[in-house]
Amino acid sequence: MNEQLRHAPKPELLTRFAAIVGDKYAVSDAATLAPHLIEGRGLYQGRTAMMLRPGSTEEVAAILKLANETRTAVVPQGGNTGLVGGQIPFDGEIILSMTRLDKIREVDASSNTMTCEAGVVLQKAQEAASAVGRLFPLSLGSEGSCTIGGNLSTNAGGTGALAYGIARELVVGVEVVLADGRIMHLLRKLKKDNTGYDLRHIFVGAEGTLGVITAAVLKLFPQPRAVETAFIAVPSPDAAVKLLNLAQSRISGTVTGFELMIREIIDFALKHGHNIRDPLAGKHPWYVLMEVSSQQPDGLRDEVEQFLADAIEQDLVIDATLAANLDQAKSFWHLRHTLTEVQKPEGGSIKHDVSVPVAAVPAFLEEASAAVTAFIPGSRPVPFGHVGDGNMHFNVSQPIGADTAQFLARWTEVNAVVDKIVLKHHGSISAEHGIGKLKRESLVKVKDPVALDLMRNLKHMLDPNGIMNPGKVL
Ligand code: FAD
Ligand code: MLT
Ligand code: ZN
Repeated sequence: MNEQLRHAPKPELLTRFAAIVGDKYAVSDAATLAPHLIEGRGLYQGRTAMMLRPGSTEEVAAILKLANETRTAVVPQGGNTGLVGGQIPFDGEIILSMTRLDKIREVDASSNTMTCEAGVVLQKAQEAASAVGRLFPLSLGSEGSCTIGGNLSTNAGGTGALAYGIARELVVGVEVVLADGRIMHLLRKLKKDNTGYDLRHIFVGAEGTLGVITAAVLKLFPQPRAVETAFIAVPSPDAAVKLLNLAQSRISGTVTGFELMIREIIDFALKHGHNIRDPLAGKHPWYVLMEVSSQQPDGLRDEVEQFLADAIEQDLVIDATLAANLDQAKSFWHLRHTLTEVQKPEGGSIKHDVSVPVAAVPAFLEEASAAVTAFIPGSRPVPFGHVGDGNMHFNVSQPIGADTAQFLARWTEVNAVVDKIVLKHHGSISAEHGIGKLKRESLVKVKDPVALDLMRNLKHMLDPNGIMNPGKVL
């Protein structure tokens, strides 16, 4: 390990850490470490001498106690799917991998709760809920590898947030190891518990900078008895927003998904994705993937069909198809979930995970697209995302044939162009992915100074020695 790294611990200290988990779970060979040091888009490359893989909350506690006493920096890591670099050790910090804490401790269908350890993969949690007739509604394109601990620490949103809420709203209780190694036991199953400050929410969305989440009680819902999934061509984002409002007021079921996608990203998916089929004939400017769920077993399909026919009459919809069966519904969602991946073969992509009030989405998209293409002629905005939450992934692909490195070198400038429009619409520069390393400098420009001051005080109080994920968020 290069001694110039700011947070690199000395070999004797590494031996003490390794003794806590046992040599088998103290990883230091380069090949095993490699995939834990880069994030999916290859934007960041980290460095570390060791990754610890604790097998219990007590081992996490022992690691943090030693880390705090010896001023050793640690970076918690779950599935390493985060998109803002929060899970990467940039300066020799020890990685604290949570993936061995992968037990579902309990599924309590009567209380509508499930108790999961932090390393449980989201999809496994969804399946465990489903096995007892319940729904755990958090759903992300990365659900096959992201973890509950990562989901809570990033306060993930995803496609189910419209109806069921973001990760924060799905947490009933937490177990957290503090920076000094103490364990805070708040694994309650209670909806009502007004015994003082609600401390669980300090750790949700903290991106591993305040402590380590080791387990959580999560909220479950009844499985819907009928689900209809439609792939809809719409003339504009404005029509999409009007369609959403109409669907929410007209359809007796709940709108449980409403994703907007520009045509160009569908073209990327058709070109670069696996098993992707265009659900509709012809090319249309924008598409909506709408999912409606109901507790009534019958009647939903007729209702959605009639709704879409009426929307065509009102010029809100150009064309639409309702999934004929579960496999077709899955293929619509597969298309949606592949959109992160299919941007890669198109070269450099400058990301913006932003939110504005839902009514302002059409104006934001129009203004941001015009501003970005004026700023870098030939650049290709490919916005898509959770329009029902006002959350768009306003991603900008490089001009065809441009030099990728030169394009990516303009990341901050392009962000400034887009963020200005986001702020004009009273929006947020990070809707669901967090701050991590990527947006740390932007945060100080946009966050209320009093709020920022409180955040710094909180960080200092909970982690006075600055061992928890240094250089992230603040
Ligand atoms: P990691 O990437 O390992 O870590 C993320 C952050 O949490 C880091 O700061 C890390 O230090 C911290 N952390 C991890 N575990 C713990 C713990 N136990 N205690 C304390 N801190 C911890 N995000 C969305 O919100 N919505 C989406 O729709 C969405 N779609 C995605 C689609 C794809 C294809 C990909 C690749 C990513 C997507 N993401 C999305 C981003 C990402 O999947 C989420 O942020 C996810 O919640 C991260 O989980 P993880 O286990 O991979 O965490
Ligand atoms: C998604 O919604 O698919 C992800 O959050 C988007 C992204 O990769 O930017
Ligand atoms: Zn998203």
